[in-house]
Amino acid sequence: MKEAAAEANTNIAFIKYWGKFEVERNLPAVGSLSMTLEGIGTITTVTPDDHDSLMLNGKLIEGEAFDRVQKFIDQFCAITKQKRAPIAITTVNSVPTASGLASSASAFAALTASLARAYELDWSAEKLSAVARRGSASAARSMLGGFVILPASAGEEVAAEQLVDEKSWDVRLVVARTTNKAKEVSSRLGMTHTAKTSTTYPTWLATWREDYDAAIAALHARDLAKVGEAMEHSTLAMHATTMTARPPFMYWNGATVECMQAVWDLRRDGLMTYFTADAGPHVKVLCRPEDVVRTQSTLRAVPGVVDVAVHLPGRGVKGLL
Ligand code: PMV
Repeated sequence: MKEAAAEANTNIAFIKYWGKFEVERNLPAVGSLSMTLEGIGTITTVTPDDHDSLMLNGKLIEGEAFDRVQKFIDQFCAITKQKRAPIAITTVNSVPTASGLASSASAFAALTASLARAYELDWSAEKLSAVARRGSASAARSMLGGFVILPASAGEEVAAEQLVDEKSWDVRLVVARTTNKAKEVSSRLGMTHTAKTSTTYPTWLATWREDYDAAIAALHARDLAKVGEAMEHSTLAMHATTMTARPPFMYWNGATVECMQAVWDLRRDGLMTYFTADAGPHVKVLCRPEDVVRTQSTLRAVPGVVDVAVHLPGRGVKGLL
């Protein structure tokens, strides 16, 4: 093993992954579709050392997050048949960690790509995405650029696939951040709890495919309205499972709802704007380049919104060292 580094961008799901077919191998119960974002993600360096360690944004990380990373490296080495050596990991994240802006996606993708380089593995990003999925299912999608799917699994290994590359559909994702605080319920816990207790989880499992199939067809046709409609439905159906869980919980805050309504108001005014939200209170709005300025100023004016950023479709993992 040698020193190596890689960079991965985060991604935002238009069609949500929510629920596991199998916890051990982290197999998704439903298919998801995402856009990889340009210029927001993780750079990770792995160096041979005499013990494992993890530095995140200059801070030594211990406890549960570190255990999860160590377990992932064990799995990486088992799957790729490499000798498990002690590793010092240094990672710099430009995504706010654990806030519903998908930090685990770029983190496990960058770690997978840097480990592959460190062990000089000649695997494609697609093949490596099935390994990244063990760390976090959304990380499988961050291995690839542009618009990416991760199919559902009924027990078999699944990997991400690129549908359309980042240069082939000129859209924007406007991200309204509605808090700087870390989220209270991780996506992992949220999924398990809703799968066990939510009265609408069975409906979610029975209906996700309609949105997934519609979004794939619409993406190939570059039909923003149809992608957007499927995206909003998938988002609201996913969040409904949290509200119908026992006990219930909610990833949204007041500003989340205000932003969603502002997006519908813009649509009534003739803009093509569609929202999504993940396991956190931020609102991400898919739109055409010409609608960015008005969307951005509208979201900025919503009380509680702390920041609004605009993202282009981005590339997949890139080796640095
Ligand atoms: O892959 P995880 O464990 O970070 O879960 C991601 C869950 C959502 O962000 C809510 C949806 C998704 O598909 O990214």
